[in-house]
Amino acid sequence: MTKILMVCLGNICRSPLANGILESKLPAEKFEIDSAGTGDYHIGKAPDHRSIATAKAHGIDISNQKCRQFDLSDFDTYDIIYVMDQSNYNNVVKLARDEKDIAKVKLILEDAATSKNLEVPDPYWGDTKDFEDVYTLLDAACDTIASRLTKS
Ligand code: 4NP
Repeated sequence: MTKILMVCLGNICRSPLANGILESKLPAEKFEIDSAGTGDYHIGKAPDHRSIATAKAHGIDISNQKCRQFDLSDFDTYDIIYVMDQSNYNNVVKLARDEKDIAKVKLILEDAATSKNLEVPDPYWGDTKDFEDVYTLLDAACDTIASRLTKS
């Protein structure tokens, strides 16, 4: 089983979408995907209604996800930790215990190299179009990641 964690700040906008999108592209019997936030603002809550609606428009149901905070034990549980932006990267790497932990943390757009952007912009203060743009970035990145993972 390969385990992948998607991480953003709030765990209500970007990482739940990334979680749902990658999950939809990989066989569940071989890959386990989850998401977490570096912040603790929304623990226990469902994803933002705009992320739920954007995913739904593309046939993906993320309404059952529950926000949780990134935990040190995630470095042990997960093989790859994808972060959405540089600030998420800094927040997660700050908690790393050694080089092995740090090596698991990757900017999702940099790893996928599907976009000139290296960061998935935070849509929280934006509108519907910002959520759709996030979806487009993540969908392309997850396509690349999923085909790479299923080849190896
Ligand atoms: P996310 O977006 O990191 O993509 O989940 C945010 C959600 C909430 C907040 C910030 C970013 N907030 O400050 O509450």
